[in-house]
Amino acid sequence: MSVLNFLKARSESRRLSMVTCYDYTFARLLAKSPIDGILIGDSAAMVMHGHNSTLAINVEMMRLHTAAVVQGAPDKFIVADMPFLSNRKGVGPALDAAQVLMATGAHAVKLEGVDGHEDVVERLVGSGIPVMGHLGMQPQSVNAYGGFRVQGRTEDAAQKIIRQAKELEKLGAFSIVLECIPADLAKEVTEAVHIPTIGIGAGAGCDGQILVLQDLLGMNVDFQPKFSRKFVDVGCAVKQAIAQYDAAVKDGSFPSREESYA
Ligand code: KIV
Repeated sequence: MSVLNFLKARSESRRLSMVTCYDYTFARLLAKSPIDGILIGDSAAMVMHGHNSTLAINVEMMRLHTAAVVQGAPDKFIVADMPFLSNRKGVGPALDAAQVLMATGAHAVKLEGVDGHEDVVERLVGSGIPVMGHLGMQPQSVNAYGGFRVQGRTEDAAQKIIRQAKELEKLGAFSIVLECIPADLAKEVTEAVHIPTIGIGAGAGCDGQILVLQDLLGMNVDFQPKFSRKFVDVGCAVKQAIAQYDAAVKDGSFPSREESYA
């Protein structure tokens, strides 16, 4: 899968599936799956490091997560997130951040928003770096929103998102993530552009979907977002397995003779 297949999927009306991934072990599993693309999301700050927002992750941390995923799933289409403010300090610093992620093996970068950093998007695209946009609820702006809230509910806010999507397309973005906006608006945005939209909490009218891997596997023990679905309850399986291991150690049934060296 490359950026070309990604674009072709839309013209062939084939839906795209993406998940986040941050580590080698899961990347190995995803490498053997039919998934179309992997995002090393800055959500790693929350999912892997326990922060309450994505703001705490930096380029070096994103490099380490990207390196692990690239090692595990080298044949998958891999997108890496530009961390908080790395795309807001001007073209030079943004190119430096993107260089680190691309040199580590990502095939594209994703960055939130567009207003005020159009020059960055244009320069990245012009430098041969495929750019995925991210509109609607932009987690890096959580403090401005006063929490993780659905965006685009008013007519003005909806029109702004449609305008920004068209702007991203004009600047050369190959795809746009639409996060937590009303389903009708996501469909309207999708119809307004020619590049694939990938939804998360944005209904079924997008060209593809993305979920946080740990959410879809049922590993998020603290919170299940309304828009996510537990396709399996790994969290429950893990708890059971650990309890069985603990009991087997304590009653002396583990390790057995077969599990020991003569
Ligand atoms: O960081 C992330 O996980 C994301 C997805 C929510 C799209 O940006």
